[in-house]
Amino acid sequence: MRVRRRRRGRREAGEQRTPEGPRAPRTAVDYPQSSVDNAAIGAHGIAESAARMIVHDRHYQTVWLEGDAVVLIDQLALPHSFAIKRCATYRETAEAIRGMLVRGAGAIGAAAGYGLAQAALQAPDAGWPTFARALAEARQHLEATRPTAQNLFYATRRVFLAATGAAPEVAAARHSARLAAQQIAAEDAAACASIGAAGAHLIGEGATVLTHCNAGWLAFVDWGTALAPVYAAVRRGARPFVLVDETRPRCQGSSLTAWELAHEGVPHAVIADNAAGYYMQRGEVQVVIVGADRIAANGDVANKIGTYEKAVVARDNGVPFYVAAPLTTIDPACSSGRDIPIEERPAEELTTMAGLTESGAVQRIRLTHSPARNPAFDVTPARLITGLITPHGIFPATAAGVAAALTAGAATP
Ligand code: MRU
Repeated sequence: MRVRRRRRGRREAGEQRTPEGPRAPRTAVDYPQSSVDNAAIGAHGIAESAARMIVHDRHYQTVWLEGDAVVLIDQLALPHSFAIKRCATYRETAEAIRGMLVRGAGAIGAAAGYGLAQAALQAPDAGWPTFARALAEARQHLEATRPTAQNLFYATRRVFLAATGAAPEVAAARHSARLAAQQIAAEDAAACASIGAAGAHLIGEGATVLTHCNAGWLAFVDWGTALAPVYAAVRRGARPFVLVDETRPRCQGSSLTAWELAHEGVPHAVIADNAAGYYMQRGEVQVVIVGADRIAANGDVANKIGTYEKAVVARDNGVPFYVAAPLTTIDPACSSGRDIPIEERPAEELTTMAGLTESGAVQRIRLTHSPARNPAFDVTPARLITGLITPHGIFPATAAGVAAALTAGAATP
């Protein structure tokens, strides 16, 4: 992705070179490779041109660690400006997750993993019990930010276990925590590249893809999930067109997905959420691809509110409906979608809206004075899902399919 944007005279905050953050475009040599689908990636030409998220000619990860600060692309500022937010403490990182400066299942997970590593790096070295207590507190605090995204809990658990596995050596625990957080982000990037490879063939020449919310590289390091097959298809020369659901109330579609696609040079149009049925009914959509915040063991999928409706309309019109996600989004402890906790967000997200005034200022306006309800996610029943696009191939959205995907992942060295 190359952002064609006027260069400013000065560097923006966070634009300097860092080991993990902004850096030169990667090559096939240093791109973290999935251990499973490398052959497919090569065949689809992704790894050969693997650099994602090139902004101002530099590679940005969605979120990264700089010293003991968690640094991230401020998604609240997009699409009107590109800003970097530096979180000095794990509490600030948690606030960035809660306030959705960083959002999208994988980005939330990566941020939470880095946040816990940050807590490990900053916890006082007053003996192991004090350190372990501080770490447990930080984990609890980070996990209380957003309840639905499985990747958050995957990341905090993994970083916590890495750190506590080094007991009673505090220095070793700090090192292990940082390493685990870095590995999570690198593995996410490789998994999403493989999702692209696995799903690209679903998008035929000139096909129109409909997507909901933002499941691109802002949402999941470093390719995204639902958009990874689109990016891979583009690189194969398929020239898809993307219908982008606006995704009220927070407009992840119009403000983030459209921004991503614009900078990737992918032809697209934003549509009102209510227009998806219209286009599907007219035969103008060849495939729907969305991401997932959590996948239950039976194949039910929690994703951005409104996803369920798209699946119903897709089924009614015979349009294939795919969910793209890495295995870390699967929660085997949820036997069905009924077990997935659904986040209820503040009513103000619905009753107010922010936008750019003609004078170029961002302004929030009130739409209604009535009370509002604001569930952030809904559950799409497995029966409405054509398939799960994973880094290990496409699996049926059934208990057997989910189990087979997990087995394929486990068999991967
Ligand atoms: O509330 P958000 O913006 O964090 O919700 C994001 C989504 O629902 C995405 O579609 C989902 O995370 C899948 S892609 C990582």
